[in-house]
Amino acid sequence: MKGKYDKRNKINNLTGKEWLQLTKSVWISERCAEDKDAFEHPAPFLIKDIRKLIRLFTKRDMLVLDPFMGSGTTLIASALEDRKAIGIDLSKKYCELAKRRLKKLGVKINGHIKIIKGNSLKKIPEIDKIDYCITSPPYHNILRNKGMGIRSDGSQRRQGVEYYSEYPDDVGNQKSYSDFLVLFGKIMKEVYKRLRENKYCSIIISDFTVKKKETNAHGDVIKLMQKIGFEFSGSVVLMQNSKPLYPFGYPYAYKINHHHQYILNFRKV
Ligand SMILES: C[S@@+](CC[C@H](N)C(=O)[O-])C[C@H]1O[C@@H](n2cnc3c(N)ncnc32)[C@H](O)[C@@H]1O
Repeated sequence: MKGKYDKRNKINNLTGKEWLQLTKSVWISERCAEDKDAFEHPAPFLIKDIRKLIRLFTKRDMLVLDPFMGSGTTLIASALEDRKAIGIDLSKKYCELAKRRLKKLGVKINGHIKIIKGNSLKKIPEIDKIDYCITSPPYHNILRNKGMGIRSDGSQRRQGVEYYSEYPDDVGNQKSYSDFLVLFGKIMKEVYKRLRENKYCSIIISDFTVKKKETNAHGDVIKLMQKIGFEFSGSVVLMQNSKPLYPFGYPYAYKINHHHQYILNFRKV
């Protein structure tokens, strides 16, 4: 451990030096060997990125929630950092995947680490008070691209049309971008109610296109969270240097390659 721990610190177990390093507004996303077990899921977090967030925003034994659990990366990161965690996902397939990943690492399920299959809108009101929420929603319906997107060009390991489920409650199955924001907002309002005072919530999201037009999705999510009552604590750019580059508009128009995610941080005050 580098540096000194300040007894007044109610947020985490970090020393001043460790804390300072994690206040940088740009992080480079880091892979580890266990990340590859999540590749059955179209959009998993990387374990090391989430471990850093959990170290920054919680103390040991605190309770972490991921209402869009997917492959269970948040649960793995929580277990590795000695935190408790609850993951919720609509999809049976992803709940099974999360269980398999945790089992492989020797983590006991339904002790400190719990998996709930179902709609977060209905399940969050039933859980205990939480100390931190880290999550990433489906990006509207971008995975429903009928095979016309970047995964269809043969250059990616995971190809084909992949989307999360056929459930109408799936945030990724809403008809319009504004319907997506409304349902996501309702779920985050439930998170707000279960989050303890002065605790944090982080949302990982990138901007994306809707009907081939760029959106300011991260800006819309910040506004939505502020409307719920969260205070915005700043965003971190999570660089994804290993993503391939695509010549989307070349040579006719400038089209961006989204090469980073935003980690949007909020506090309940
Ligand atoms: C972007 S993925 C999350 C990936 C996750 N961060 C990981 O590390 O694998 C979003 C997930 O939200 C789930 N989902 C969508 N709507 C939901 C809802 N209403 N309640 C619970 N889960 C939902 C989908 O099944 C999908 O697995």
